[in-house]
Amino acid sequence: MKKPIIIGNWKTNPETLQEAKKNILAIEKKVKDKKQNYLLAVPDAYISTLKDIKSKAIIGAENISGLELGAYTGTTTASMLKSAGALFTILGHSEVRTQGETDEIINKKIKQSLASGLFVVICVGESIRDKEAKYLKVVEEQLLKSLAGVNRELFSKIIIAYEPIWAIGAKNPANTHECFEMAIAIRRALASFATIDYAKKVSIIYGGAVTEENSASFITDGGVDGLLVGRASLNPTSFSKIITNCYAK
Ligand code: PGA
Repeated sequence: MKKPIIIGNWKTNPETLQEAKKNILAIEKKVKDKKQNYLLAVPDAYISTLKDIKSKAIIGAENISGLELGAYTGTTTASMLKSAGALFTILGHSEVRTQGETDEIINKKIKQSLASGLFVVICVGESIRDKEAKYLKVVEEQLLKSLAGVNRELFSKIIIAYEPIWAIGAKNPANTHECFEMAIAIRRALASFATIDYAKKVSIIYGGAVTEENSASFITDGGVDGLLVGRASLNPTSFSKIITNCYAK
């Protein structure tokens, strides 16, 4: 049985490093099993401190700038985040895409991150579900453009997060049937791109309105290997329940 991949995405929270430390310690208190590790994508400014806290959390970033070293005021490279202690980064989150990030930029960021030794969580997802199922094509295209030219030997360092935009920050998540359908479509697109053996190395997770109540159903019925959790990851009680519920499946 594969371990579930549970990732918290803290976005621009919490307000202080002190609170961030407190959050991790509170999660640690509630998730007692040493084997139940989890990932936290946190603000850049907190990475180097949080990675030194004795915990089961694997600390990562929420984005990279996509720039090389040089005269670019106010930016952070993948290599800097890696040296600060990040082990992974989220890329292509819809909140970043709405600021103008294209699949081509995401592709460049994926290559930079992998080259710096970070593993990557690539977010894909449609904005609406239409009756003609064009949303499957939308996600497939995001995926293939993002992965163009990426060395398939590095596929084990890639996690695809299916995050339907209509479920992010919303009241209701996708249902497990919708999640399952997309997980299959993603796996199929990966196989057509790089053969099934390589496609199998990529983990697929779900994100969007995940709660402690619905979390485990995505693992059991949604065809995914884990979850990307926004709001509920900021509440140590909810997030630790998500972790323990998913490990119990
Ligand atoms: P949410 O966010 O869980 O608050 O819906 C998910 C995400 O943005 O990754």
